[in-house]
Amino acid sequence: MIAKVANIKSEVEAYVFDENQKAETFRLLYLSKKGIITELFEEFKKAPVEEKRTLGGVLNGLKQLAEAKYQEQKEKESENSEGDLVAHDITLPVYQTNEGALHPLRIVEDRLLEIFYSLGFDLSEGPEIEDDYHNFGALNFAEDHPARDMQDTFFITEHVLRTHTSSVQVREMEKGKLPLRLVMPGRVYRNEAVSSRSNCFFHQIEGLYIDKGVSFADLKQTLYYFVQQFFGEGTKVRFRSSYFPFTEPSAEMDIWAGVDTEENRRLTKGTGWLEVLGCGMVHPNVLKSCDIDPSIYTGFAFGMGIDRITMLKYGITDIRDLFVNDVRMLKQFAGI
Ligand code: DAH
Repeated sequence: MIAKVANIKSEVEAYVFDENQKAETFRLLYLSKKGIITELFEEFKKAPVEEKRTLGGVLNGLKQLAEAKYQEQKEKESENSEGDLVAHDITLPVYQTNEGALHPLRIVEDRLLEIFYSLGFDLSEGPEIEDDYHNFGALNFAEDHPARDMQDTFFITEHVLRTHTSSVQVREMEKGKLPLRLVMPGRVYRNEAVSSRSNCFFHQIEGLYIDKGVSFADLKQTLYYFVQQFFGEGTKVRFRSSYFPFTEPSAEMDIWAGVDTEENRRLTKGTGWLEVLGCGMVHPNVLKSCDIDPSIYTGFAFGMGIDRITMLKYGITDIRDLFVNDVRMLKQFAGI
């Protein structure tokens, strides 16, 4: 083996670098994991003990020689490539890479869904063009109910652009499969010009849980859990009684933001409480419309505005900022 090592040593000494034989070629041949010198070390392990004493020194010498030769060549090459840079015009502007980022609404929707998935809710989506029955009728809005005006509706001949995601509740309940535990995100439309800052569409997430023995306590605990996960542990919650045609009893849920900053006083109109969502126990009439027997099944529902929550979370003051798709604005959400 001594002779073999000596041979390779003279080979290394005689190695000439050129265009095709660069430092990397040399490294691969001699010093890499499968390189000749590395293999010699493997062979060395199996050599007889007497031979090992002299062999060890010679082999290490070879390795040092090869490494020194490699380093020297590598340095030469990197000096040369600096020379190459001079040959190119390094004053040219660099390529701008435009990296994409998730839209803030998508970030918030994903987070909301994730929280409800962790509680065993599944995803469902319904059509944005609805009929009057699914958007209003089956949800216990009377024919002449003023609530229909409350949600200024876009009409398309016999159809409407859905004014809320509650329509998806009906579509799911009428499928006739129970129990149901669903979250239903999507875009909704309202013909509102109440302020210059309004928008004719926005986004909601609807929740629905129907089973035997579902109670208002389940509703409160589910939403309480959601608030702790989304707005942070320790966030205070209150339920105010309210009215929706499709729930009885109905409530609105607020979270405590406080009145200690100018911003909080503005957002909460001085009360310290921020309205987050509407909710309630599914009205027996709604269950009946969907052929569900209210004496056997009960359930709760809730609906919240994704845009509103996104604005609260990121301090966005004009809803239209979410829809102009100004890259400068969107880029601020990269990596969040
Ligand atoms: N659909 C209501 C709206 O758009 C929100 C809502 C309130 C949804 C109460 C619900 C609910 O499911 O139980 O204003």
